[in-house]
Amino acid sequence: MENKQIAITKFGGPEVLAVQSASVPEPKAGEVIVKVAFSGVNPIDVKTRAGLGWAASQNKDKLPWVPGYDVSGQVVACGEAAERFNQGDNVAGFIGFPLQGGGYSQYVSVPENELSLVPDAVTLEAAAVLPLAGQTAAQALNKAEVKEGDRVLILAGAGGVGHLAVQIAVAAKAEVYTTCSERNLDYMATLGAHAINYQFAPASERVEEVDVLIDLVGGDAALDALKCLKDGARVVTVPPLSAELICEKAKLLGFEATGMLVDPNPEQLDTMLYMVSVGLLKTEIQSVYPMTDVVTAHEQVETGHTRGKVLLDMQC
Ligand SMILES: NC(=O)c1ccc[n+]([C@@H]2O[C@H](COP(=O)([O-])OP(=O)(O)OC[C@H]3O[C@@H](n4cnc5c(N)ncnc54)[C@H](OP(=O)(O)O)[C@@H]3O)[C@@H](O)[C@H]2O)c1
Repeated sequence: MENKQIAITKFGGPEVLAVQSASVPEPKAGEVIVKVAFSGVNPIDVKTRAGLGWAASQNKDKLPWVPGYDVSGQVVACGEAAERFNQGDNVAGFIGFPLQGGGYSQYVSVPENELSLVPDAVTLEAAAVLPLAGQTAAQALNKAEVKEGDRVLILAGAGGVGHLAVQIAVAAKAEVYTTCSERNLDYMATLGAHAINYQFAPASERVEEVDVLIDLVGGDAALDALKCLKDGARVVTVPPLSAELICEKAKLLGFEATGMLVDPNPEQLDTMLYMVSVGLLKTEIQSVYPMTDVVTAHEQVETGHTRGKVLLDMQC
């Protein structure tokens, strides 16, 4: 049986992505084979493809390399001592992070303890939205110790991480403010956030006395947002490139500040899948592209203006 994959053949523009053919892996002990239905496209995939960042430098001698960390699909085989799942179960996971990747494949072999069972009430599309983005959202909010009544400012509430972070913070009964462009103002309001149009005025002219800043944009937008904070505020800055600069500036101003690297946590994914199943969390998908349209999918994510997530349909 064939296992089509999308590989980075060399570092460069989206056109360096190519379909390659591999064999279906054999499950090792404790692993299951997942027939991947949907694979999520994340900004890190785009950066790695362009040759930027840590995953690129670590994998530069391993090209062609198959990116992808988010998968949802069906268990089709179980290795020795793999007992958590049965053939036919729907599962999702945040796999191979950060160095192995491999999610842009039709079949993957995954340690069963890295996977979550997808409840019947959750589609495989929704399940593929959650792993990397959802865990980043949850871990950023946890790091900032967001609690009921906190005034929380989330930069880029309409993105893959942001739309989940907004909803988790609202569910924690925080007062949530978020930045977005004009076209996302209504969408952000439907999620329960006070939406600030960053194209109209910087956040610092629109909100003050903020307890927690969750920065998903970095650079100048983050530096401006520091002006919205009250004494003793907590800052979590997620984009790696500017994290050092923003933490340094925030600390000089007397705030607690930290960067972060998301850490795969299947229990956290279980919780989010449950929240989706009971309607507490809504996943947003801008587009699902056939795997053969991966170039367009990368171009979309590269715009920096995706609403929610972009997925690849790995079986068409
Ligand atoms: N450190 C980690 O472990 C980790 C983990 C995950 C992600 N990240 C990083 O975190 C960042 C966000 O990830 P993501 O997956 O959410 O990205 P994404 O889905 O590509 O974000 C797109 C969103 O950003 C918004 N946006 C763009 N420019 C903005 C601005 N100046 N102000 C406010 N919103 C703006 C867009 O809204 P509009 O269209 O309305 O402008 C769009 O909805 C990326 O840099 C990613 O690499 C880091």
